[in-house]
Amino acid sequence: MTAVTVRVPAKVNVQLAVGGRREDGFHDLANVFLAVGLFDEVTAAPARGLRITAEGRGVDAVPLDESNLAAKAALALARRHGVAPDAHLHIAKDIPVAGGMAGGSADAAGALVACDALWGTGASREEMLEICAELGSDVPFSLVGGAALGVGRGDVLTPLEVGGEFHWVFVASDEGLSTPAVYRECDRLRRAAGGGDSAADVPAPAAAPALLAALRAGDPEELAGALANDLQAAALSLRPDLAETLGAGVAAGALAGIVSGSGPTVAFLVSDEDAADKLVLTFGPAARAASSPAPGATRLR
Ligand code: C5P
Repeated sequence: MTAVTVRVPAKVNVQLAVGGRREDGFHDLANVFLAVGLFDEVTAAPARGLRITAEGRGVDAVPLDESNLAAKAALALARRHGVAPDAHLHIAKDIPVAGGMAGGSADAAGALVACDALWGTGASREEMLEICAELGSDVPFSLVGGAALGVGRGDVLTPLEVGGEFHWVFVASDEGLSTPAVYRECDRLRRAAGGGDSAADVPAPAAAPALLAALRAGDPEELAGALANDLQAAALSLRPDLAETLGAGVAAGALAGIVSGSGPTVAFLVSDEDAADKLVLTFGPAARAASSPAPGATRLR
Protein backbone atom coordinates (compact mmCIF):
# COMPACT_ATOMS: atom_id res chain seq x y z
CA MET A 1 0.00 0.00 0.00
CA THR A 2 1.42 3.35 -1.01
CA ALA A 3 0.00 6.82 -0.56
CA VAL A 4 -2.61 8.10 -3.04
CA THR A 5 -3.01 11.80 -3.90
CA VAL A 6 -6.19 13.24 -5.43
CA ARG A 7 -6.66 16.78 -6.74
CA VAL A 8 -10.06 18.42 -6.30
CA PRO A 9 -11.41 21.69 -7.72
CA ALA A 10 -13.20 24.68 -6.19
CA LYS A 11 -16.53 25.80 -7.63
CA VAL A 12 -18.33 29.00 -8.39
CA ASN A 13 -22.11 29.15 -8.78
CA VAL A 14 -22.84 31.08 -11.95
CA GLN A 15 -26.52 30.85 -11.02
CA LEU A 16 -27.84 30.03 -7.57
CA ALA A 17 -31.64 30.17 -7.59
CA VAL A 18 -32.98 29.51 -4.09
CA GLY A 19 -36.54 28.31 -3.57
CA GLY A 20 -38.46 28.49 -0.30
CA ARG A 21 -37.44 26.78 2.93
CA ARG A 22 -38.63 23.16 2.95
CA GLU A 23 -39.99 21.17 5.89
CA ASP A 24 -36.53 19.59 6.36
CA GLY A 25 -34.91 23.04 6.63
CA PHE A 26 -33.15 22.77 3.26
CA HIS A 27 -34.03 24.87 0.21
CA ASP A 28 -34.77 23.58 -3.25
CA LEU A 29 -32.18 24.95 -5.63
CA ALA A 30 -31.44 25.45 -9.27
CA ASN A 31 -27.70 25.57 -8.83
CA VAL A 32 -25.48 26.02 -11.88
CA PHE A 33 -22.05 24.87 -10.77
CA LEU A 34 -18.84 25.60 -12.61
CA ALA A 35 -15.61 23.97 -11.40
CA VAL A 36 -12.66 26.35 -11.36
CA GLY A 37 -8.95 25.70 -11.48
CA LEU A 38 -8.18 26.35 -7.82
CA PHE A 39 -7.39 23.03 -6.21
CA ASP A 40 -6.90 21.25 -2.90
CA GLU A 41 -4.90 18.01 -2.81
CA VAL A 42 -5.90 15.17 -0.52
CA THR A 43 -3.40 12.41 0.20
CA ALA A 44 -4.40 9.16 1.87
CA ALA A 45 -1.43 7.26 3.31
CA PRO A 46 -1.32 3.94 5.17
CA ALA A 47 -1.77 4.40 8.94
CA ARG A 48 -3.29 2.81 12.02
CA GLY A 49 -6.66 4.51 12.67
CA LEU A 50 -7.83 7.74 11.04
CA ARG A 51 -5.70 10.86 11.33
CA ILE A 52 -6.01 14.21 9.57
CA THR A 53 -3.42 16.90 8.98
CA ALA A 54 -3.65 20.03 6.86
CA GLU A 55 -1.37 22.67 5.40
CA GLY A 56 -1.88 25.87 3.44
CA ARG A 57 -3.82 29.10 3.59
CA GLY A 58 -6.50 29.32 6.29
CA VAL A 59 -5.84 25.87 7.80
CA ASP A 60 -6.23 27.19 11.35
CA ALA A 61 -9.99 27.12 10.67
CA VAL A 62 -9.94 23.52 9.36
CA PRO A 63 -11.03 20.96 11.99
CA LEU A 64 -8.65 18.00 12.29
CA ASP A 65 -11.14 15.66 13.97
CA GLU A 66 -14.09 13.59 12.77
CA SER A 67 -16.14 16.74 12.14
CA ASN A 68 -13.96 17.33 9.04
CA LEU A 69 -15.98 16.37 5.96
CA ALA A 70 -12.96 14.45 4.60
CA ALA A 71 -12.97 12.26 7.73
CA LYS A 72 -16.72 11.71 7.36
CA ALA A 73 -16.16 10.61 3.76
CA ALA A 74 -13.48 8.10 4.78
CA LEU A 75 -15.63 6.73 7.63
CA ALA A 76 -18.69 6.38 5.38
CA LEU A 77 -16.70 4.42 2.77
CA ALA A 78 -15.08 2.17 5.41
CA ARG A 79 -18.46 1.45 7.04
CA ARG A 80 -20.12 0.52 3.75
CA HIS A 81 -17.32 -1.84 2.79
CA GLY A 82 -16.65 -3.29 6.24
CA VAL A 83 -13.00 -2.23 6.27
CA ALA A 84 -11.10 -0.49 9.08
CA PRO A 85 -10.88 3.30 8.49
CA ASP A 86 -7.09 3.22 8.60
CA ALA A 87 -5.60 6.24 6.82
CA HIS A 88 -3.57 9.34 7.37
CA LEU A 89 -5.40 12.02 5.37
CA HIS A 90 -3.31 15.05 4.53
CA ILE A 91 -5.09 18.03 3.02
CA ALA A 92 -3.04 20.63 1.13
CA LYS A 93 -5.38 23.63 0.92
CA ASP A 94 -5.44 26.22 -1.80
CA ILE A 95 -9.23 26.74 -1.92
CA PRO A 96 -10.34 29.52 0.47
CA VAL A 97 -11.63 28.02 3.75
CA ALA A 98 -15.33 28.74 4.51
CA GLY A 99 -15.31 30.90 1.39
CA GLY A 100 -18.35 29.75 -0.57
CA MET A 101 -16.18 27.81 -3.02
CA ALA A 102 -16.94 24.30 -1.72
CA GLY A 103 -13.47 23.71 -0.27
CA GLY A 104 -14.73 21.36 2.44
CA SER A 105 -16.87 19.51 -0.09
CA ALA A 106 -13.87 19.18 -2.40
CA ASP A 107 -11.81 17.65 0.42
CA ALA A 108 -14.59 15.15 1.10
CA ALA A 109 -14.73 14.07 -2.55
CA GLY A 110 -10.92 13.87 -2.63
CA ALA A 111 -10.77 11.77 0.54
CA LEU A 112 -13.38 9.40 -0.85
CA VAL A 113 -11.49 8.78 -4.09
CA ALA A 114 -8.12 8.56 -2.29
CA CYS A 115 -9.33 6.11 0.39
CA ASP A 116 -11.13 3.98 -2.19
CA ALA A 117 -7.83 3.57 -4.04
CA LEU A 118 -5.78 3.07 -0.84
CA TRP A 119 -8.12 0.44 0.55
CA GLY A 120 -9.00 -1.21 -2.77
CA THR A 121 -12.71 -0.94 -1.95
CA GLY A 122 -13.58 -0.47 -5.64
CA ALA A 123 -16.67 1.70 -5.07
CA SER A 124 -18.69 2.33 -8.23
CA ARG A 125 -19.31 5.84 -9.50
CA GLU A 126 -22.97 5.53 -8.40
CA GLU A 127 -21.98 4.52 -4.89
CA MET A 128 -19.47 7.37 -4.67
CA LEU A 129 -22.16 9.84 -5.75
CA GLU A 130 -24.51 8.41 -3.14
CA ILE A 131 -21.94 8.81 -0.36
CA CYS A 132 -21.17 12.35 -1.59
CA ALA A 133 -24.85 13.32 -1.44
CA GLU A 134 -25.08 12.02 2.13
CA LEU A 135 -22.12 14.20 3.11
CA GLY A 136 -23.39 17.53 1.73
CA SER A 137 -25.27 19.28 -1.05
CA ASP A 138 -22.13 20.40 -2.93
CA VAL A 139 -20.05 17.23 -2.54
CA PRO A 140 -21.36 15.32 -5.61
CA PHE A 141 -20.33 18.24 -7.84
CA SER A 142 -16.82 18.27 -6.37
CA LEU A 143 -16.50 14.66 -7.50
CA VAL A 144 -17.68 15.22 -11.09
CA GLY A 145 -16.40 18.78 -11.81
CA GLY A 146 -16.87 20.47 -15.18
CA ALA A 147 -20.23 22.22 -15.20
CA ALA A 148 -23.54 20.92 -13.97
CA LEU A 149 -27.04 21.90 -12.97
CA GLY A 150 -27.84 20.77 -9.43
CA VAL A 151 -31.47 20.51 -8.38
CA GLY A 152 -33.12 19.26 -5.18
CA ARG A 153 -30.71 20.32 -2.43
CA GLY A 154 -28.22 20.90 -5.25
CA ASP A 155 -27.02 17.29 -5.18
CA VAL A 156 -29.02 15.89 -8.13
CA LEU A 157 -26.75 16.69 -11.05
CA THR A 158 -27.11 17.00 -14.80
CA PRO A 159 -23.86 17.74 -16.66
CA LEU A 160 -23.83 20.93 -18.75
CA GLU A 161 -21.98 21.69 -21.93
CA VAL A 162 -19.40 24.49 -21.81
CA GLY A 163 -18.21 25.89 -25.15
CA GLY A 164 -15.03 27.64 -24.05
CA GLU A 165 -12.75 28.71 -21.23
CA PHE A 166 -13.90 31.36 -18.75
CA HIS A 167 -11.45 33.47 -16.74
CA TRP A 168 -12.07 34.53 -13.16
CA VAL A 169 -10.52 36.42 -10.30
CA PHE A 170 -11.50 35.34 -6.79
CA VAL A 171 -11.10 37.72 -3.88
CA ALA A 172 -11.09 35.87 -0.56
CA SER A 173 -11.90 37.29 2.89
CA ASP A 174 -10.00 36.77 6.13
CA GLU A 175 -13.22 35.80 7.92
CA GLY A 176 -15.43 33.03 6.53
CA LEU A 177 -19.25 33.03 6.43
CA SER A 178 -21.38 30.18 7.78
CA THR A 179 -23.55 28.67 5.05
CA PRO A 180 -26.54 27.96 7.37
CA ALA A 181 -26.34 31.56 8.65
CA VAL A 182 -26.51 32.93 5.09
CA TYR A 183 -29.55 30.75 4.24
CA ARG A 184 -31.21 31.91 7.49
CA GLU A 185 -30.54 35.53 6.54
CA CYS A 186 -32.02 34.89 3.07
CA ASP A 187 -35.19 33.57 4.78
CA ARG A 188 -35.25 36.53 7.16
CA LEU A 189 -34.96 39.05 4.31
CA ARG A 190 -37.80 37.30 2.46
CA ARG A 191 -40.03 37.49 5.52
CA ALA A 192 -39.04 41.11 6.15
CA ALA A 193 -40.04 41.94 2.57
CA GLY A 194 -43.48 40.51 3.37
CA GLY A 195 -43.26 37.66 0.90
CA GLY A 196 -42.85 34.68 3.22
CA ASP A 197 -39.98 32.20 3.07
CA SER A 198 -41.61 28.78 2.66
CA ALA A 199 -41.69 26.64 -0.48
CA ALA A 200 -45.33 27.75 -0.96
CA ASP A 201 -44.34 31.46 -0.90
CA VAL A 202 -41.32 31.46 -3.18
CA PRO A 203 -41.39 30.60 -6.90
CA ALA A 204 -39.80 27.26 -7.79
CA PRO A 205 -36.16 27.85 -8.74
CA ALA A 206 -35.19 27.29 -12.39
CA ALA A 207 -32.03 27.61 -14.44
CA ALA A 208 -32.13 30.64 -16.77
CA PRO A 209 -32.06 29.68 -20.47
CA ALA A 210 -29.85 32.71 -21.29
CA LEU A 211 -27.26 31.57 -18.75
CA LEU A 212 -27.17 28.01 -20.09
CA ALA A 213 -26.84 29.40 -23.63
CA ALA A 214 -23.92 31.62 -22.54
CA LEU A 215 -22.15 28.59 -21.04
CA ARG A 216 -22.74 26.54 -24.19
CA ALA A 217 -21.42 29.38 -26.35
CA GLY A 218 -18.38 29.96 -24.11
CA ASP A 219 -19.23 33.67 -24.27
CA PRO A 220 -17.95 35.62 -21.22
CA GLU A 221 -19.91 38.81 -21.97
CA GLU A 222 -23.17 36.89 -22.23
CA LEU A 223 -22.35 34.96 -19.08
CA ALA A 224 -21.49 38.20 -17.26
CA GLY A 225 -24.97 39.51 -18.01
CA ALA A 226 -26.62 36.34 -16.73
CA LEU A 227 -24.75 35.73 -13.43
CA ALA A 228 -27.29 35.51 -10.59
CA ASN A 229 -27.06 34.51 -6.94
CA ASP A 230 -30.15 34.58 -4.71
CA LEU A 231 -27.90 34.33 -1.64
CA GLN A 232 -25.98 37.48 -2.53
CA ALA A 233 -28.33 39.91 -0.76
CA ALA A 234 -28.09 37.79 2.39
CA ALA A 235 -24.29 37.58 2.21
CA LEU A 236 -24.10 41.37 1.72
CA SER A 237 -26.50 41.93 4.60
CA LEU A 238 -24.15 39.96 6.90
CA ARG A 239 -21.01 41.40 5.33
CA PRO A 240 -21.73 44.91 3.95
CA ASP A 241 -18.03 45.39 3.11
CA LEU A 242 -18.38 42.90 0.24
CA ALA A 243 -20.39 45.51 -1.71
CA GLU A 244 -17.25 47.65 -1.85
CA THR A 245 -15.21 44.73 -3.15
CA LEU A 246 -17.82 44.05 -5.85
CA GLY A 247 -17.80 47.72 -6.91
CA ALA A 248 -14.01 47.94 -6.93
CA GLY A 249 -13.64 44.93 -9.22
CA VAL A 250 -16.12 46.20 -11.77
CA ALA A 251 -14.54 49.67 -11.63
CA ALA A 252 -11.17 47.99 -12.33
CA GLY A 253 -12.47 46.34 -15.51
CA ALA A 254 -14.20 43.08 -14.57
CA LEU A 255 -17.13 42.14 -16.81
CA ALA A 256 -19.18 41.37 -13.69
CA GLY A 257 -18.79 40.41 -10.04
CA ILE A 258 -20.82 38.04 -7.90
CA VAL A 259 -20.63 36.58 -4.42
CA SER A 260 -19.57 32.94 -4.78
CA GLY A 261 -22.24 30.65 -3.29
CA SER A 262 -22.89 31.69 0.31
CA GLY A 263 -19.73 33.82 0.26
CA PRO A 264 -17.76 35.67 1.39
CA THR A 265 -15.44 35.05 -1.61
CA VAL A 266 -16.23 37.46 -4.44
CA ALA A 267 -15.88 36.12 -8.00
CA PHE A 268 -15.12 38.41 -10.93
CA LEU A 269 -15.62 37.25 -14.48
CA VAL A 270 -13.09 38.83 -16.84
CA SER A 271 -12.62 38.72 -20.60
CA ASP A 272 -9.28 36.89 -20.78
CA GLU A 273 -6.15 35.83 -18.92
CA ASP A 274 -4.49 39.25 -19.25
CA ALA A 275 -7.51 40.94 -17.71
CA ALA A 276 -7.39 38.42 -14.87
CA ASP A 277 -3.70 39.14 -14.19
CA LYS A 278 -4.38 42.90 -14.13
CA LEU A 279 -7.30 42.54 -11.73
CA VAL A 280 -5.22 40.36 -9.40
CA LEU A 281 -2.72 43.24 -9.15
CA THR A 282 -5.56 45.60 -8.18
CA PHE A 283 -6.58 43.46 -5.21
CA GLY A 284 -3.18 42.13 -4.12
CA PRO A 285 -2.57 38.94 -2.13
CA ALA A 286 -6.26 38.22 -1.37
CA ALA A 287 -6.92 37.71 -5.10
CA ARG A 288 -6.34 34.63 -7.26
CA ALA A 289 -6.84 34.09 -10.99
CA ALA A 290 -8.31 30.79 -12.18
CA SER A 291 -10.09 29.49 -15.25
CA SER A 292 -13.00 27.16 -15.78
CA PRO A 293 -14.26 24.58 -16.36
CA ALA A 294 -11.90 22.32 -14.38
CA PRO A 295 -12.05 18.53 -14.03
CA GLY A 296 -13.53 16.89 -10.93
CA ALA A 297 -11.62 14.76 -8.42
CA THR A 298 -8.56 13.41 -10.24
CA ARG A 299 -5.93 10.99 -8.97
CA LEU A 300 -2.45 12.46 -9.39
CA ARG A 301 -0.34 9.61 -7.96
O1 C5P B 1 -25.69 20.29 2.47
P1 C5P B 1 -24.77 21.16 3.25
O2 C5P B 1 -24.22 20.48 4.47
O3 C5P B 1 -23.69 21.79 2.43
O4 C5P B 1 -25.66 22.36 3.78
C1 C5P B 1 -25.20 23.24 4.76
C2 C5P B 1 -26.35 24.10 5.24
O5 C5P B 1 -26.76 24.99 4.18
C3 C5P B 1 -27.62 23.33 5.58
O6 C5P B 1 -27.59 22.92 6.91
C4 C5P B 1 -28.70 24.36 5.33
O7 C5P B 1 -28.75 25.29 6.40
C5 C5P B 1 -28.16 25.13 4.14
N1 C5P B 1 -28.66 24.60 2.85
C6 C5P B 1 -29.99 24.80 2.52
N2 C5P B 1 -30.46 24.33 1.33
C7 C5P B 1 -29.64 23.69 0.47
C8 C5P B 1 -28.30 23.47 0.79
C9 C5P B 1 -27.83 23.95 1.99
O8 C5P B 1 -30.74 25.39 3.29
N3 C5P B 1 -30.13 23.24 -0.68
